[in-house]
Amino acid sequence: MELSPPTPAAGEPGRPLEVTALGEEAWIEVVRRMDSIYADLVRHQVELERKNEALEEAQRFIDSVLSAMSDVLVVADIHGRIQRVNQAMLDLAGLPEEALVGQALHILFTEESASLANELPHRTREKAVTDCEARMRGRDGGSIPIAINCNPRYDNRGVFSGIVLTGRQLGELRRAYHELQDAHQQLKDAQQQLLQAEKMASLGRLVAGVAHELNNPISFVFGNMHALKRYEDRLQRYLTAFHEGSPQAEMERLRKRLKIDRVLQDIGPLIDGSLEGAERVSAIVQNLRRFATPRPQNKSWFDLPRLTENAVGWVARTSPTPPEVTLDLPEELPVHGNEGHIHQILINLVQNAIDAMEETPRPRLDIRIEQDADHARVVVRDHGPGIPEADALRIFDPFFTTKEVGKGTGLGLYISYGLATEQCGGALRFRNHPRGGAEFILEIPLGTDEAPADG
Ligand SMILES: Nc1ncnc2c1ncn2[C@@H]1O[C@H](COP(=O)(O)OP(=O)(O)O)[C@@H](O)[C@H]1O
Ligand SMILES: [Mg+2]
Repeated sequence: MELSPPTPAAGEPGRPLEVTALGEEAWIEVVRRMDSIYADLVRHQVELERKNEALEEAQRFIDSVLSAMSDVLVVADIHGRIQRVNQAMLDLAGLPEEALVGQALHILFTEESASLANELPHRTREKAVTDCEARMRGRDGGSIPIAINCNPRYDNRGVFSGIVLTGRQLGELRRAYHELQDAHQQLKDAQQQLLQAEKMASLGRLVAGVAHELNNPISFVFGNMHALKRYEDRLQRYLTAFHEGSPQAEMERLRKRLKIDRVLQDIGPLIDGSLEGAERVSAIVQNLRRFATPRPQNKSWFDLPRLTENAVGWVARTSPTPPEVTLDLPEELPVHGNEGHIHQILINLVQNAIDAMEETPRPRLDIRIEQDADHARVVVRDHGPGIPEADALRIFDPFFTTKEVGKGTGLGLYISYGLATEQCGGALRFRNHPRGGAEFILEIPLGTDEAPADG
């Protein structure tokens, strides 16, 4: 390019020396401008390269995400022409990308799903399509059931510009569902086992006491039976003499010697005592059975005060440090519910209370029952140290225990809580009593409105 020096301004007389000086300045200015333009160019070039790199990086990122997806993905335009598919789709169809891009969406589907495929752009424009079952063509011409979701895609001006379809093979969904179901079942089984384990642990503690409990009436019955055996012997001899027609005087003498009058007097109480002992044994056995195998869903009418007394008596009697128990119970309070569950909860509460009072010089337990229109509350209060604030939020957690290994499982309150709320439709709460000790409140619904059947 040729540049001529600038002409002097109009009206100015030509002064060659100055013109030359001015001309140089202009040249310098031109060179400076070109320099700056060139620098700008270089800057823009660098910027462009940087953006290009970022674009490629984004592209690679999207590609890697798409090919890592196990669900199939298809992007189509508003006419349903395929624009992009991911690796999972190519694998499923068994075709290369070139064979699909530009084709109509329905070629991915079997004949029966083709019309659905054709409608997809239209339907999706109105509203996203979710969990719709369709069949896609597999690589060997097979038909593959698939659950599809279809969402609209918009361009940068917010104009509907196509659809994004994702699909998951139904077989996989079913498998996932079954796996979930299995896991759930395992969890339920494990819970059941925990329940059983806790029961067994409490049972173990009770067994020693039960043996002691049984020992009493049984030795009582034994003693009575030995006495009766001796009496039978004497009566036999007396009756034989009588049948042989022994004279009156001889009979009289025998009667005195064998103390027949005493025998006749004693037989009644001996038999009564034995019966009582046998009944006691039978009651203990029945209790044991109720404790060991509470029938899970069996609801029945039972008398809450009697059940409470029984549970408290059991644990208290079989404890090495039996507390002084105060009962404040109504004469009778029929409840319709699961007796076994309530029994188990009460046994846990009383056992905990006794454990808590191990170091208490005069262990005392106050049990009372309150009642309102449709609930009964059994309140178990001990006179132990109460529950430290730090533990208060955790005592219902599974495996939370402050007892030494082998003594506490940490499951008693967890299970009792579950039984009280979920199984019995009631509640289990506690508080530290203002005058010391912990107080647990078991609240249960009284049950159906029907009156309890007789018997
Ligand atoms: N009456 C109570 N007084 C003080 N602490 C209690 C009482 N009842 C329960 N706890 C606390 O709650 C914990 C959890 O009780 P629980 O679930 O029955 O398990 P475990 O009796 O096997 O420890 C106990 O270890 C104890 O720290
Ligand atoms: Mg316990």
